[in-house]
Amino acid sequence: MNHASFPVTRLRRLRHTATLRELTRETRLEISDLVYPMFVDDCETLRQPIESMPGIDRMSVQEALVEAKLAWAEGIRAVLLFGIPRSKDANGSQADHPDGVIQRITAEIKSVLPDLAVITDVCLCEYTDHGHCGILDGNDVANDTTLERLAKQAVSHAEAGADIVAPSDMMDGRVGAIRTALDDFGFQKTAILSYAAKYASTFYGPFRDAADSTPAFGDRRSYQMDPRNSDEALREVALDLEEGADIVMVKPALPSLDVVKRVKDCFGVPTAAYQVSGEYTMIEAAGANGWLDAEAAHLEAVYAIRRAGADIIVTYAARKLARALADR
Ligand code: PBG
Repeated sequence: MNHASFPVTRLRRLRHTATLRELTRETRLEISDLVYPMFVDDCETLRQPIESMPGIDRMSVQEALVEAKLAWAEGIRAVLLFGIPRSKDANGSQADHPDGVIQRITAEIKSVLPDLAVITDVCLCEYTDHGHCGILDGNDVANDTTLERLAKQAVSHAEAGADIVAPSDMMDGRVGAIRTALDDFGFQKTAILSYAAKYASTFYGPFRDAADSTPAFGDRRSYQMDPRNSDEALREVALDLEEGADIVMVKPALPSLDVVKRVKDCFGVPTAAYQVSGEYTMIEAAGANGWLDAEAAHLEAVYAIRRAGADIIVTYAARKLARALADR
């Protein structure tokens, strides 16, 4: 870069009017870049507010359908579904039950809103009684046994009509196992969004209240990544792409903007970032206290995530953002 210096160059010249600022804007965001996560609870009859996530509810299948219609009407084009099953056990049996909560809401949404993309979270932690993301062998999560369960779960989501399955368990080899299983069952068109670089983050705290998925013992550091690492994130992404991932995701988002950027720059593939429950809740909590303007903070956060290179942003603020973006 070879630029003239002050006083020839005055950067304020292009900031002078709203029109010039808009003309020279580098980052743009469409409502259709956002993915709206929803918690669908098999036991719920209506809606149950999640205390640690203001404005977000656990919903029955019927209520989730209402919510999906509202989101669609506001311009949202993709939802990410999390299921809270009616019962949990060591194998997470409800995860691939044909009549499970995700299978039912997926089928409902696809019949009423066929163009709303349904992305389903593929992981066992919401379905196991011990709250870990896979099948246990003693106190360890057994990688290869878990792969079979995840593949079955993914196939059953595809059977229900999911457009994209999103493995979030962080087992080695799960993208390949899921791709093979989907193809064997004739679901060549079902895409995989892998949570490729998923850190063991304390910012998932509110989600675990919401999905009732706190591990009964230990933590997730034997499968999720150490937040100190970023070369490792690139290795995770490379493996997932080799195994057939169509979209790769980095999670959490704001604490990992450097990783989002490295992934986008290195691989140039569709890249998603997940602004997780704790990131959402911090903004909401500060807003509720009058300490900052929550809507403006949500906008600034998603613009930063976009600027770092994310094509797709998963955020609980998607509906609020859709309204804010439509108002401008
Ligand atoms: C399931 C899963 C988690 C999140 C998404 N998928 C929880 C976890 O790994 O403990 C977290 C999302 C959030 O915090 O919003 N494995």
